[in-house]
Amino acid sequence: MEAPDWKNLPFGYMKTDYNVRCHYRNGKWGELEISSSEYIDIHIAATGLHYGQEAFEGLKAYMGKDGRVRLFRWEENAKRLILSAGGIIMAPFPYELFREALYKVVELNRRFVPPYGSGASLYIRPLLYGSGAEVGVKPASEYTFLVFVTPVGPYFKGGVKPVDMLICRDIDRAAPKGTGIYKVGGNYAASMRAIIAARDGGYANTIFLDAREKKYIDECGPANFFGIRDNTYVTPKSESILNSITNMSLLDIAASLGMKTERRQVPVEELGMFEEAGACGTAAVISPIRKIVDPENNIIYEYCRDGQPGPLTMKLYNKLTALQCGDEEDTFGWVSIL
Ligand SMILES: Cc1ncc(COP(=O)(O)O)c(C=O)c1O
Repeated sequence: MEAPDWKNLPFGYMKTDYNVRCHYRNGKWGELEISSSEYIDIHIAATGLHYGQEAFEGLKAYMGKDGRVRLFRWEENAKRLILSAGGIIMAPFPYELFREALYKVVELNRRFVPPYGSGASLYIRPLLYGSGAEVGVKPASEYTFLVFVTPVGPYFKGGVKPVDMLICRDIDRAAPKGTGIYKVGGNYAASMRAIIAARDGGYANTIFLDAREKKYIDECGPANFFGIRDNTYVTPKSESILNSITNMSLLDIAASLGMKTERRQVPVEELGMFEEAGACGTAAVISPIRKIVDPENNIIYEYCRDGQPGPLTMKLYNKLTALQCGDEEDTFGWVSIL
């Protein structure tokens, strides 16, 4: 096979050489299996298909200048998948086996890790689902774990570009005591109508508010929100959002750069007080926000002068990406070198 055109990769799926799988049967996980097929054989009554017993993860491997491949905070993805499994009563995938599966799938597909400096990376997608057959609503007795990889281009071609967001009040992604804190497929299904409506309106994504009161910021589509005011990094605390690993990292990085940090409820009106704002997650790292439109209240909150991301947003972005690809010493202990 010819090498992919690393500079022009989309953020999408590309076939690679292998994926790694594992099955839970008779109360225990089996051995890791290597497959070169892109397909799975699935029972027609699998709970993953009917009742949404499905959780996934997303992380990236980066090629360093030294030619070594780095994984960023995989331990947090392992823990979050265990949390998600518990949230929808699936057999948790063991932490050590998760590490082994990740290392194996990256090693086996090493030729797909994009070169240093291309702006691209190897996206890693672990998936866990109920593969046992049930017709009543109850947890399956069999589960399948698999992990595949695909090289992805930078989310923003030609650099970090500020995006526009639309506040959504008529669709909720997740309820306060629901599954919003888990990375389960059902949350994404619930968010799809709002995301598509925002995209159709020319926005990059939607900002969900808390479902109970519609007073506080929850999340930005598949990313966490942050705002910056008076040298303080502010990000929502909510019982219905996914605890973003990128956001956790930015909170620590902001503190290390001498900023104050606050994780608390963020009222919608506070959007008018931020000097900078952004959405953060594995895919985009940081999407600086240019403006947020609140259609019901006829308000537009603006954050970028001359269409450029703010200085503190860029400082955070540069520090995080330098750590991820090994340009800066990993003083946080976040990077595993394969
Ligand atoms: C709903 C949601 N929120 C936030 C995030 C960002 O999380 P992370 O930084 O761990 O990728 C994601 C992506 O995984 C997501 O799907």
